[in-house]
Amino acid sequence: MKKKHITLGEFIIENQKHFKYTSGELSRLINSIRLAAKVVNHEVNKAGLVDILGAAGEVNVQGEAQQKLDVYANDVFMQTLVNREIVCGIASEEEDDFVVIEGKENTNENKYVVLIDPLDGSSNIDVNVSVGTIFSIYRRVTPVGTPVTKEDFLQKGNEQVAAGYVVYGTSTMLVYTTGHGVNGFTLNPAIGTFYLSHPNMQFPENGNIYSINEGNYKQFGQGVKEYLKYCHLDNPAENTPYTARYIGSLVSDFHRNMIKGGIYIYPTSTKAPQGKLRLLYECNPIAFLAEQANGKATDGYRRIMDIQPTELHQRVPIFCGSKNMVTKAEEFMAQFPDEANY
Ligand code: AHG
Ligand code: MN
Ligand code: MN
Repeated sequence: MKKKHITLGEFIIENQKHFKYTSGELSRLINSIRLAAKVVNHEVNKAGLVDILGAAGEVNVQGEAQQKLDVYANDVFMQTLVNREIVCGIASEEEDDFVVIEGKENTNENKYVVLIDPLDGSSNIDVNVSVGTIFSIYRRVTPVGTPVTKEDFLQKGNEQVAAGYVVYGTSTMLVYTTGHGVNGFTLNPAIGTFYLSHPNMQFPENGNIYSINEGNYKQFGQGVKEYLKYCHLDNPAENTPYTARYIGSLVSDFHRNMIKGGIYIYPTSTKAPQGKLRLLYECNPIAFLAEQANGKATDGYRRIMDIQPTELHQRVPIFCGSKNMVTKAEEFMAQFPDEANY
């Protein structure tokens, strides 16, 4: 009988044959992300109800205030990752510094570090629009048995062993890569199981969607302004004018563009001289996914995954999506080389 309805759990086991290390730890780590995603999904799904039931919150014996969802998501992912004794440290958007996990009997034997944006696009929660979680996984570079250091987190994106996101949308999906293509799994909420619904996801090489917060137009550099003028041209031969789509949640904008073909840009501006998005837990995992899906991710001049990080919360501009669209945008940026020095 032919296999069908493959679950994420089955896929993770099957995918293990690609891994360099055969201990099964990376598989268990991805499994822990699967669990945390389900827990966060459950909470996100009733986000609107929480206020209605606010009075119930007040009778909480500990008198705790309702946690904001990004703090909640952070706690869930951190706790789930700590429990499995695979991860030696976590860096999160919600934590000032990285968190050390000592593991079994405080021996620092765990081998992986995780970098995470627990809730991406969280301002969309209040208006019932899609949000996400983004994660990035590396093997530590310092010796096992010693405490994890900043160096373990400041690795180039091209050292990632896995990356992915969860999109809490009209349905909830977990999309990830371990360097062997990108696969998407949709949650069946009735039984709490993710099924492989989008095998081998690929960006169309061309598209006609551009996603950028164009309200900042006047603050953009000249390269971006010229590229946007190109997007507006009435030129059917080039597929322009493009269609503007901007949800304001990187995960959702990226997800749509990967399926339909498009470019997402968060450039530098006078308001955000380094860009807004974070290299380590937003841009690098998104770049890894983009490249694994036959797309492209650059800062307008250089490959995102070649940038040497210097800070945990470092920001970079990002241009990512369909290969030919990103290449076209880079042509405009190349005319203004000074803007590469942000
Ligand atoms: P976060 O909610 O994790 O802080 O991220 C929000 C990010 C990203 O998801 C989104 O694309 C971008 O901020 C939107 O920024 P603007 O509101 O400046 O367009
Ligand atoms: Mn974010
Ligand atoms: Mn966030």
